[in-house]
Formats: sequence, structure tokens, C-alpha cells
Amino acid sequence: MRIAIVKESSASEPRVSASSDTVKRYVSLGADVFVASGAGSASGIGDADYEGAGATVVADNAAAVAGADIVLGVRRPEAAALAGVKPGALVIAIADPHGHEAALAEVAGTGVSLFAMELMPRITRAQVMDVLSSQANLAGYRAVIDASSEFGRAFPMMMTAAGTVPAARVFVMGAGVAGLQAIATARRLGAVVSATDVRPAAKEQVESLGAKFIAVEDEEFKQAETAGGYAKAMSAEYQAKQAALTAAHIAKQDIVITTALIPGRPAPKLVSADMVAAMKPGSVLIDLAVERGGNVEGAVPGEVATTANGVKIVGHLNVPGRLAATASQLYAKNLYAFVETLVDKGTKSLAVKWDDELVKATLLTKDGAVVHPGFRPQEVAVEVAAPAAAADVSAA
Ligand code: NAI
Repeated sequence: MRIAIVKESSASEPRVSASSDTVKRYVSLGADVFVASGAGSASGIGDADYEGAGATVVADNAAAVAGADIVLGVRRPEAAALAGVKPGALVIAIADPHGHEAALAEVAGTGVSLFAMELMPRITRAQVMDVLSSQANLAGYRAVIDASSEFGRAFPMMMTAAGTVPAARVFVMGAGVAGLQAIATARRLGAVVSATDVRPAAKEQVESLGAKFIAVEDEEFKQAETAGGYAKAMSAEYQAKQAALTAAHIAKQDIVITTALIPGRPAPKLVSADMVAAMKPGSVLIDLAVERGGNVEGAVPGEVATTANGVKIVGHLNVPGRLAATASQLYAKNLYAFVETLVDKGTKSLAVKWDDELVKATLLTKDGAVVHPGFRPQEVAVEVAAPAAAADVSAA
């Protein structure tokens, strides 16, 4: 059984799909691991580290994937990069299928079975494989660190001989995995923290971290969580009430961190240009939803924008990649936990259980076709007609 660890083709992706630790584990599973030279360098893992763990380092991706049974990546590889894999090889990555149906069809055409790690069901057995959580947790932490470096003031209250420094006020919008870690990190730095969400379950979690919960708690709020634990898109009326409540609050904040997402839809707009204009000069907004359309009006993907009133709006892309070494370590472990379920430890060979719920939820392509119900060509046509159904599929 041959496993390929590819070097990511995008310069904006510093993460890697294996750590020294997971390479050792694959070797003990009976695999021969081939790593493309330099694959781990942006995550602080050198070729020698992989060799020390038992891998063979080869010149490039083409050499790594030649004859591979399993190809592991961070992003979905291009179809052309999969030439030479074994027929029916497994390719496992964050496959980002939404809106990329043409690229998906090309990968299907190579005959590989492509798995999307981000579609892993959020059930107890698969917690160790949950890449959304492992990466969002780091993004939430990094958002606070980025905010503190852009902010010209201290976070904690300090009483010094030269005077008292007030604590920074931090408001976190969206208290899922990223938001809760942002709250915890900002609290550790000594900030006064408040947070909002549309899911009632978030209230207790926010308060247990020592932050104040601020939300419109009406009948719609009580119904805002889907069976999958995600937020629903809220009505225009609710959004207006939410905006009225948060506008006055945002004007008093030093830092606003937004993390709000709705599966299968663009990110909800939560902070308007007027709200940004009401903030004090020197205030900082970090928009973690910028890759999905953004929560903050004026956020520019990949840039730190400064408004006319001196407020910074930070739109960094691939925030987990800004902590590449840690992000790779956790992502590699998520991947290993999944791969382990696809291998027969006795015969040391691939033994995919195609009816396993983890396989069914994540498998995008097989035997030359796109097979995932949410992305099969005919279902894509239905998805356009019924976006609510599409959102449920992606949350499942
Ligand atoms: P996400 O990344 O989809 O969204 C982030 C947050 O934004 C969510 O808390 C959501 O409620 C909030 N949001 C959406 N629209 C909003 C709006 N208009 N205003 C304010 N906030 C808004 O969510 P994430 O972080 O993936 O977590 C979703 C749920 O899954 C949570 O309940 C989390 O606790 C749960 N979860 C369960 C796991 C498990 O059981 N294994 C693992 C990880 C998360």
C-alpha cells in the first residue's frame, strides 16, 4: 500500500497533509509513504524529518503519486496532477466542492475516489477527523493575535505608575468553534469580551467562558439551530432587530471579530459601513468569513483596509495557514484517523467500507463519476432551484 504526500500547488497554502508523527503511524499500518520534496517546508517539517519518520522523499508530486493507492493533500489536487495514480486510488483533501462542479468532474474523470474531509459528519466517532473544528479553532485564536498586532493599544487593564490603561473591549460575532476560541483567547489576554450568535445553545457556552451574551432572543432565535447544530439563515425582520441591537454595542468596541457562517450560503452581512464609521479611530475588525463573502461591509479578501475614520478591517485569507505548523499537525492527525478506517490492519491493504456513514458523507467521486448526492450533476440543477435543501445537504 503506497501513500503519497503531495506538496501543495498553491503558493498561498503553507499547510501539509502529513506530520512526522502521522508518517510513522502510516508506516506502522504497513504503508510505504512517498513525500514530495519540500512538501512540509512551509510548516516547519523538513525532508529529513519525513525520512527520519520512515518516508521516502521524492523529487516532485509526479514521482510521489506514481503508483499511489492513497494521495493525501490539503487542497483538492488538479486532475492533471493525479496522472499515474493506481486505478481507483483514494484522494483525500479539503475538496471544496461548492461551486467547483467542473473541476470535480475533471477529477472524477481520472477514476480516483475523491473524499472531502470538510463533509465529515459531526458525530462522536468522527470528532478526531473533524477538520472544520481543528482549523476553525486555530483561526479563532489567530484572529485575536492578528487583532492585537493591528491594535495600537494593550489588551489587559494595567495600573502603572504612569497611569491606568483600560482593558480592550472585544466583541465576537458568531460563537461556533472559531468564535468560542476567540472569546477564550481574548479573555486570556485580559480583554472585556462580549459575543453574539443566533443559536440559543451558544448563550451558555459564551457565558461559561466569562463573556457577556448579547442577542435578540425572540421566537425565531429559539428555532435558529438546525438538527445538524448549524445556524439557519435568519429573516430580514430578525436581521433588522439584530442590527439595531448590535449597532450601539459595536460603536463602543475596540475590536470586533466576526465568524458567522451558514452552510451552503454566503456569509450573513452583520456589520454595515455605518456601524464601522461609528467606531473609534484605531479600532480593528477581523472578518474570518471574508472567503465566504464576508460579515463586514468593506472587508477586502487578503487585505488590511483602513477606513476614512481610521478603523482597520482585516480580511486575511487562509487564517489557519497563518499558524501553518500547528494547523498541519492537527490536519495530519484528522487525516490519519480517517485513513485508519479505510485500511485492513491484518492484510495491510485498502479495505474501504463503501456503506460506512463516514465514507458515504465524504465521498465525492468514484469510478469516473461524481457520486455525492449534493454534487451529482442533476442534483446541482435542483440545488439552484431549492437553496434551502442544498444547505441541509451540506450540513448533513
Ligand atoms: P459555522 O462555522 O457554520 O458558523 C459559525 C457561527 O456563526 C455559528 O455558531 C453560527 O450559529 C453563527 N451564525 C450564523 N449566522 C449568524 C448570524 N446571523 N448572527 C450571528 N451568528 C451567526 O459553525 P461551527 O463553528 O462549525 O459550529 C456549528 C455547530 O456545530 C456549533 O453548534 C458547534 O458547537 C457544533 N459542533 C459540533 C461538533 C461535534 O458534535 N462533533 C464539532 C464541532 C462543532
